[in-house]
Amino acid sequence: MNRRDLLLGALAAIPVRALTQSARPMLTRPIPSTGEPLAVVGLGTWQTFDVGSDRAARTECAATLQAFLAGGGRVIDSSPMYGTSEQVVGDLLTARGGSPRPWLATKVWTTGERAGIDQMNTSLRRLQVDTIDLMQIHNLVDWRTHLRTLRAWKSEGRVRYLGLTHYQAGAHDDLARAIQSESVDLVQVNLSLDEPQAATSLLAACAQRKVGVIVNRPFGGGASFARVRARPLPSWSTELGISSWAQYMLAWILSFPEVTCVIPGTRRAVHVLDNLGAGRLPPFGVDVRERMAVEWRRLSS
Ligand SMILES: NC(=O)c1ccc[n+]([C@@H]2O[C@H](COP(=O)([O-])OP(=O)(O)OC[C@H]3O[C@@H](n4cnc5c(N)ncnc54)[C@H](OP(=O)(O)O)[C@@H]3O)[C@@H](O)[C@H]2O)c1
Repeated sequence: MNRRDLLLGALAAIPVRALTQSARPMLTRPIPSTGEPLAVVGLGTWQTFDVGSDRAARTECAATLQAFLAGGGRVIDSSPMYGTSEQVVGDLLTARGGSPRPWLATKVWTTGERAGIDQMNTSLRRLQVDTIDLMQIHNLVDWRTHLRTLRAWKSEGRVRYLGLTHYQAGAHDDLARAIQSESVDLVQVNLSLDEPQAATSLLAACAQRKVGVIVNRPFGGGASFARVRARPLPSWSTELGISSWAQYMLAWILSFPEVTCVIPGTRRAVHVLDNLGAGRLPPFGVDVRERMAVEWRRLSS
């Protein structure tokens, strides 16, 4: 089978339901520091895009990127920690060319000023861009050092936004302290029905400092699906337009107005379209959010 056949095969597997949902517009939310609108559902690349030179897997990634960008997605998140993901994303976007242009985020994850500069230069080269939309300091590693470099890069136009990331609730207090003492544009943090701790105080701290929030691990790394596998969605949630457990979990996250964007990781085009569908639902209020959480605990206990 040639590359074109593989690509067409991957796209043909997308169900009609996912395609009809795409008729509704993707919601956007503003980055607090500038007002620039971001599509609320993005794409994570940890593991899923770390495929090296595997031809079939790269073709699957190309179909996923195509579905993502054509479906209204913009934010793509990577990291030098994710093996070959930056290179794969860069190669596929270059091969694809044209518009719509994605909004690229990556990270710096090392110690020391020189090592940080070298790593960020390598990331830009792998992603095949001169300017990166968002550079985030991964897991807060040596964050004060890298923030100094990144402020200089921002003034030179090499990076548009600065961010800090973590993926564990135990680091939320450190993140909150960091944004109190330094000004950054965005924080990337874990938040999900199974890992809800960020909702207790970190989201409020971000809102108070006008810091946007990108949510990682929205499905607990995928483990959350095991809790509801084979269970039907509650009928009240399907009446709200939710058509999968992935959308249920993403809609709960997007019910927090402090959240700017959520970045589920997947290599499957069909899952990308499912996830983008959550960005076309109306934003739900506190009442629906609480009902979702109560139901989640009941169903998954
Ligand atoms: N800064 C940090 O410290 C940090 C840490 C972790 C992650 N992240 C970022 O956040 C992103 C998301 O986190 P994550 O990838 O760890 O976990 P996740 O998004 O919570 O879960 C990913 C898993 O969910 C599955 N999945 C995705 N969409 C699905 C759907 N619609 N239906 C069924 N299964 C679905 C994927 O499998 P398939 O491939 O089969 O769809 C994959 O196994 C990462 O990719 C990365 O960019 C950052």
